Amino acid sequence: MVAGVKPWPGFVYDFYALLLILHVPKIHSRIFEIFICTTSNLYFGMSPMYSWGVFVLLSLVHVIMTSSVTSRMDDQSENLAAWPFRHLKIPSGHVSRNVKKKNTGIRTFQKKSTTGSQLCQTCSGTVLRRCIQTSSTRHVELTSVRYPDVKRGNYGSVRDSDLATFERLLPGRVLTDSLDGYNTDWLKTCRGASQVVLRPKSTEEVSAILKYCNEKKLAVVPQGGNTGLVGGSVSVFDEIVISTQLMNSIISLDEISGTLVCQAGCVLASLEDYLSNHKLTIPVDLGAKGSCHIGGNVATNAGGVRLLRYGSLHGNVLGLEAVLANGEVVDCLSTLRKDNTGYDLKQLFIGSEGTLGIITAVSLNCPQKPEAVSVAFLGCESFQSVLDIFKESRQKLGEVLSAFEFMDSQTMTVAKENLKLRSPIEDYPFYVLIETSGSNGSHDEEKLSQFLEHVMGTGIVQDGTVATEPTKIQNIWSMRERIAEGLMHDGYCYKYDVSLPLQSFYGLVEAMRERMGTMVTRVIGYGHVGDGNLHLNLTSPEYSTEVMDKIEPFLYDWVANHKGSISAEHGLGFKKKNFIYHSKSKSAVRLMKDIKHTFDPNMILNPYKVLPDF
Ligand code: FAD
Ligand code: MLT
Ligand code: ZN
Repeated sequence: MVAGVKPWPGFVYDFYALLLILHVPKIHSRIFEIFICTTSNLYFGMSPMYSWGVFVLLSLVHVIMTSSVTSRMDDQSENLAAWPFRHLKIPSGHVSRNVKKKNTGIRTFQKKSTTGSQLCQTCSGTVLRRCIQTSSTRHVELTSVRYPDVKRGNYGSVRDSDLATFERLLPGRVLTDSLDGYNTDWLKTCRGASQVVLRPKSTEEVSAILKYCNEKKLAVVPQGGNTGLVGGSVSVFDEIVISTQLMNSIISLDEISGTLVCQAGCVLASLEDYLSNHKLTIPVDLGAKGSCHIGGNVATNAGGVRLLRYGSLHGNVLGLEAVLANGEVVDCLSTLRKDNTGYDLKQLFIGSEGTLGIITAVSLNCPQKPEAVSVAFLGCESFQSVLDIFKESRQKLGEVLSAFEFMDSQTMTVAKENLKLRSPIEDYPFYVLIETSGSNGSHDEEKLSQFLEHVMGTGIVQDGTVATEPTKIQNIWSMRERIAEGLMHDGYCYKYDVSLPLQSFYGLVEAMRERMGTMVTRVIGYGHVGDGNLHLNLTSPEYSTEVMDKIEPFLYDWVANHKGSISAEHGLGFKKKNFIYHSKSKSAVRLMKDIKHTFDPNMILNPYKVLPDF
């Protein structure tokens, strides 16, 4: 210690360390600068030479201490604090570097052999975590008020004696207070008035609850991570919420066949983490993975960004266990890849959105985790170019192509303005995100490189960037996956999720833009173009019936006239059920109603959802 140094710089260090721990990089660097300037000159009382020496030394410490934080923050100013949790493993030995790739003119982020690591904002481990919760401060009108035409069914109301029974069946796991989070959907568009949430841990408990509710004619709504986007996961009136939150055990994993059996309440990202330790991966991936449950994914037949590679859950779910409305357990929890004995009943539960039974466990076919992943983010001039790039990518990337997503320029504006993300490339009318994954990094990168040379050469791609390093890959994916969150900053989001033949795919966005004019804040189009799935979103500061009446049924008519489906992957839930006839024939809907009656004669399971009122 230099004689005469006052003790308080130690305190400043503590304060600085605290800020570092609290992850406020912008504030901490500012404070650090002030600290260096003021303390070295005013408090140390040193000679200017000595003072500069201390300054240089401390600056070095500062650079070392902050390097991991700034490398994490430099590409994206992500609001990580507002998102719980998505894990992305960052292998050591990788740092990013900006390289001009010869011929293609595309910037490339590549692996480098020096050691480096990314720290998690939340746990300071070698992981990144991200959550998908939106702010719950906005007032959400009760569904029963916003949709006055929907009448409460002839169901029982929960009494004290029912609560006592539930408490006996699920000691300490009956919630009656602070139920806002369970009553309000992720989009903040629907709000129910459930008075009770039940949190079973086992199939037997689900069975006991349902048996009781069926006898008393108490309506229930199954709920997983409550990330559904069609109002299916929350009550419409006072239905009892049955949450799978505590049903989160992994039952078995066969590493040879890649068969995972787990309870329905396992969070998708946790399953991915678990499988990754066994060199396996989960065949479904979506932006909500940090919160959604596998049971919810199966119940909605969620699509997501890996469908192009692995196909839908109808093919990847090997078996499931479900509890019917009367409490009977249907055991279809097969782990076999082939089983042609009778009707494949599990398929009925996949995509049934909680109306036929509560899924309590699933058996999944899990592919090998790809050894190498690359992501290209490209800019182009027209939607026709997007289609041309897709065609070329199918031909030239073949088996390594694992995702093909698109965004229009208005979507990029949401990423920039509402999420404060920075585009890795210049502004273009359209953007394409291509992911390749496979077992041989150099082979895949070579293929991608040849493909990029080709599309740049023919002029269908104007500019692009390629990432092979996990943090960069994640940052690029964030541009696409966080759009749903970004839209919420505008106020109310009118969300549509349609399938359309690729020739008419973007025409719907243009038609809606023309129709809505200045009535809405924006009309944007993005989605899983590789699956023919468009996400069309409109926003306004708050919900407006005038806007809604201008959108619907026009939009659904347009989709039906162009031979599309009004719900590609989100389901019908509460908000879209009455438009089912735009995509299904009368005879098909009649058969669905018959199935519903067979499985749930008292109609207690998720009433007012999926099937139309008439
Ligand atoms: P919940 O929202 O809780 O429930 C959804 C429906 O399933 C409800 O009808 C509910 O009653 C029923 N349900 C839930 N659990 C069970 C169960 N165990 N048994 C029976 N019924 C049950 N979807 C896509 O398809 N692709 C995407 O790319 C995609 N991205 C998304 C991104 C974001 C940011 C968000 C918020 C949502 C996204 N979704 C996407 C919507 C998607 O439907 C859900 O994220 C997910 O599949 C629902 O799972 P969950 O556990 O949250 O179910
Ligand atoms: C997505 O692909 O991002 C999701 O389906 C959510 C959305 O449609 O916004
Ligand atoms: Zn989607």
